[in-house]
Amino acid sequence: MSVQLKSPEAIAKMRVAGRLASELLDYLTPHIKVGVTTGEIDRLAHDYMVNVQHTVPATLNYAPPGHKPYPASLCTSVNHVVCHGIPGDKVLKSGDIVNVDVTVIKDGFHGDSSRMFTIGTPSIQAKRLIDVTYEAMWKGIRVVQPGAHLGDIGHVIQKFAESQGYSVVREFCGHGIGEVFHEEPQVLHYGRAGTGLKLQAGMIFTIEPMINAGKPGIRGLADGWTVVTSDHSLSAQWEHTVLVTPDGFEVLTVSAGTPPPPA
Ligand code: MF3
Ligand code: CO
Ligand code: CO
Repeated sequence: MSVQLKSPEAIAKMRVAGRLASELLDYLTPHIKVGVTTGEIDRLAHDYMVNVQHTVPATLNYAPPGHKPYPASLCTSVNHVVCHGIPGDKVLKSGDIVNVDVTVIKDGFHGDSSRMFTIGTPSIQAKRLIDVTYEAMWKGIRVVQPGAHLGDIGHVIQKFAESQGYSVVREFCGHGIGEVFHEEPQVLHYGRAGTGLKLQAGMIFTIEPMINAGKPGIRGLADGWTVVTSDHSLSAQWEHTVLVTPDGFEVLTVSAGTPPPPA
């Protein structure tokens, strides 16, 4: 088992898939507001992927070992939901925060990205958690270059999140991605600098930290997918798909509406 180095042709296709994932989030953004149901967001995403982008929703019926098929075209994780929230008849209300995580397949290649959205007027605490999580993801992205180690990414994310009084979810990680949705390597969002796999140009993986306002513990709900914080504290997540380039990194999940990197 080893980590693939993508060919120039594969990289070109991953750029397209990444842009399409990001454009899907752009398309959804004006719809993610007070009164909408998470199921409506899913339906909009499904129709845009299938009818406009001619992409395949990677999550729909996705069934990794030990899981039943995921029933929707994206994940909507509201408030204390850490990840893999299943869209349904939940109505978004003012003060909610929601992660929308999309994965499209174009020409056999996957683009995977998620953003946080605030609904109506967010609390100062919720806004701070979202902003710190975004900065944590970017601190992880910015250490990506040939010769760096995977542990460097986890280390900077953990150090920053914990310095802000938050905790890093341990059970889920970023992942290699390409023609396969989840492949090697596992990209932990905690760890020690200088440890783990050494990065090489041509690797592609996601960085997608889940940061809790309270303790790191999580539990899974009976639906077999939804993951929540054990202490019911708020949780936030952002995700980009990233290429290791000869002189650093290239974020592949970019489009007109991608939020700018933090200063
Ligand atoms: N998009 C998620 C990730 O970032 C995976 C969701 S799998 C699902 O890896 F089945 F829950 F949708
Ligand atoms: Co991912
Ligand atoms: Co994702």
